[in-house]
Amino acid sequence: MTTKDCLTVTDSRTGKTYELPITNGNIRAADLRQIKVDETEFGMMAYDPAFMNTASCKSAITYIDGDKGILRYRGYPIDQLAEKATFLEVAYLLFNSELPTQAELDDFTRDVTTHTFVHENVRTVIDGFRYDAHPMGMLVAAVGALSTFYPEAKHVLDGEVRRRQMIRLIAKMPTLAAWSYRHSVGMPFVYPDNELSYVENFLSMMKRVAEPKFKAHPVIARAMDVLFILHADHEQNCSANVMRAIGSSRADPYCSVAGACAALYGPLHGGANEAVLRMLREIGSLGNVPAFVKDVKTGRGGRLMGFGHRVYKNYDPRAKVIKHLADQVFDIVGKNPLLDVALELEKVALSDEYFVERKLYPNVDFYSGLIYQALEIPVDMFPVLFAIPRTAGWLAQWEEMLLDKDQKISRPRQVYTGEAKRDFLPLEDRK
Ligand code: CMC
Repeated sequence: MTTKDCLTVTDSRTGKTYELPITNGNIRAADLRQIKVDETEFGMMAYDPAFMNTASCKSAITYIDGDKGILRYRGYPIDQLAEKATFLEVAYLLFNSELPTQAELDDFTRDVTTHTFVHENVRTVIDGFRYDAHPMGMLVAAVGALSTFYPEAKHVLDGEVRRRQMIRLIAKMPTLAAWSYRHSVGMPFVYPDNELSYVENFLSMMKRVAEPKFKAHPVIARAMDVLFILHADHEQNCSANVMRAIGSSRADPYCSVAGACAALYGPLHGGANEAVLRMLREIGSLGNVPAFVKDVKTGRGGRLMGFGHRVYKNYDPRAKVIKHLADQVFDIVGKNPLLDVALELEKVALSDEYFVERKLYPNVDFYSGLIYQALEIPVDMFPVLFAIPRTAGWLAQWEEMLLDKDQKISRPRQVYTGEAKRDFLPLEDRK
């Protein structure tokens, strides 16, 4: 091996030098283990809370260059997919590495469409929730419950079985999501309409009241499809990491998706779109923006939700597409009055030293909530709308993990900081 593809490390404690092989520009953390002061030691580890600088896998699905604001699925730039593809085409791409031919897309669409119904007992699961249950909590429970309806799903190493569950999950998530919503507003459940497209069917299950057939406005349906494309995958984010971690124990994909949904629910991840709307409502008017930004900077006002990203240190490319999309939707349904507050907030933040220095830009969640709200979708549903398309990404990540020979059960190490060994103290001797 030449020194060119090695990292040479000298341990100042022992004076010993080690050559750590470099592959794809990285070292393997396990190679650090040979570095020790004496043979009885465990060996050196890399301490990396929150995975700030740890690649947990190799992946060929999604590429992000956070400094340049680039996002690609399987090599295709997100703005091209958002402009030219449909969500089901993108889901196919994520699963199969290539865009489908017309025949492949027809088959895939038919498979998804014929799996949109859920077992009738799922109604009872959702019906069992309190009237004011958050739809995301219901979604987590309902998707986990699907595990009990498809016991074959545990055969995760059988490619055919795996693919069947992937189709089922893509197909049934809109049904579970819409039913969670209908329960939370006390409306009867609407069954899937398999004559409609993926997104039109979802909107029908959400919105249909007494009309025999629900017909979504084509601009609205397309906007929702684009939002689904933009949210379909985002490489090793918090929920994808959870999906991979749960899946690595060979749990079935319904349980893994339930866990991933739970991770997505948090306000620092997919719950941020909900938090943005609540924040914009709280700010209320343009005049309150400077005071709000000041409070954020001093730490009194919490964070500016919808701003900042672990990976993007530039404008999130998804936010750019969504901003443009918002105009198209507002042309149909009327402008969301909170848009002006959002635009002012963006303007103030992007010219403020605090945000500039920390490279905090609007992320995907900053404008998406404004569109959802303009479509009269309640704020509680926002993370649910994120979960539906992200299921495609989770499943692609999950299958890639299962097929990757480098992967094993996910099990990080720790740096123990607790007590050294001590003897048990009987109750009467404790102070
Ligand atoms: N408002 C104000 N300050 C912020 C914000 C924000 N939104 N985000 C980060 N900072 C500050 C933070 O206080 C820290 O400052 P300092 O160096 O003085 O301590 C610095 O910027 C670095 O922040 P961090 O917390 O170390 O960054 P992170 O990579 O751990 O966090 C984040 C990323 C997305 C959790 C964070 O930016 C955040 O909380 N944003 C608001 C929530 C949000 O919009 N989440 C959606 C993310 S996009 C959708 C998704 O992928 O889920």
